[in-house]
Amino acid sequence: MLKKLEDYEKQIQELVIASKDDLENFRLQFLSKKGIIPQLFTAFRDVPNEQKKEFGQKLNELKDLAETKFSELQTELKSSTKKGADDIDLTVPPFPTELGTRHPVNMVRREVVGIFERIGFTVSEGPEIEDDWHNFSALNFPPEHPARDMQDTFFVGKDPDFALRTHTSSVQVRVMENQKPPIRTISPGRVFRNEAISARAHCIFHQIEGLYIDKNVSFADMKDTLLYFAREFYGPETKIRLRPSYFPFTEPSAEMDVYWGLETEADYRITKGTGWLEVLGCGMVDPNVLKSCGIDPEIYSGFAFGMGIERTAMLKYQVKDLRLFFENDKRFLDQFKAAY
Ligand code: PHE
Repeated sequence: MLKKLEDYEKQIQELVIASKDDLENFRLQFLSKKGIIPQLFTAFRDVPNEQKKEFGQKLNELKDLAETKFSELQTELKSSTKKGADDIDLTVPPFPTELGTRHPVNMVRREVVGIFERIGFTVSEGPEIEDDWHNFSALNFPPEHPARDMQDTFFVGKDPDFALRTHTSSVQVRVMENQKPPIRTISPGRVFRNEAISARAHCIFHQIEGLYIDKNVSFADMKDTLLYFAREFYGPETKIRLRPSYFPFTEPSAEMDVYWGLETEADYRITKGTGWLEVLGCGMVDPNVLKSCGIDPEIYSGFAFGMGIERTAMLKYQVKDLRLFFENDKRFLDQFKAAY
């Protein structure tokens, strides 16, 4: 009998458990009503008198040991990080997770794309690494044009020339080569120019360019479309003006300004004292470009326009330094939560 008590003592001392179930099994085995210890207390009655004292003492010790062990194991289990599936309370509400926000460049892109989609423009995309034909030659850039210079263009390979596209007009060449007019499309995308990084210029930025080709498309159609855009984007009272300009791929070419106002000191600074802000370049697609892309300029005509997204976002959100768009500083991005 006494030997049995010693065996149980050893068993309890050496017990290790891995789960709640193990602990419960231990309790059932030793401490529950029908467990070993209550059974031993029952058996105590039949122990011969001369052994009663020693047995009783040992049995009480065993009971204490089992109870201490049980509470020790219980605390150990609670503090252990290994949790069983049963321990996960699925009804506990989650920690509030902070929502992100769209990047301002993305917000402007989506808004501009939406404005043109509503009047039937599709969205087209193309590769960021372009060949000379799609980025320059098809767009009527003469071979010696300065934009092809190393100073402006990041070349990736020579012979054949591959470069990072300097504008998304390259996408429009691809559209014209592959589709028959009528064509109405806008191409948003990332472009690259080898420029010194400053508050007003970056070597990577985003553009949205538009192209409209059909029979009898006139300069007046272009002006009307751009006025629609300006009023949707900058507000219903917006005034625009077109100033003559030059691009190799359009003739005539123009730059569009919107009237910003000249009331505050900031207005003077932003508009350089004119009240007008340049927002995009545009023009009638040069017949040479149509010819290069397999479209007969005797039958079709069209217009194109292009704007920088960062520049547009700077105007819309009054951002003074273009570099902020590329730094992903949370303090900057958080300010657009309301706009989103
Ligand atoms: N591709 C011109 C640029 O990158 C923008 C533009 C597009 C101008 C279409 C006129 C017509 O600056």
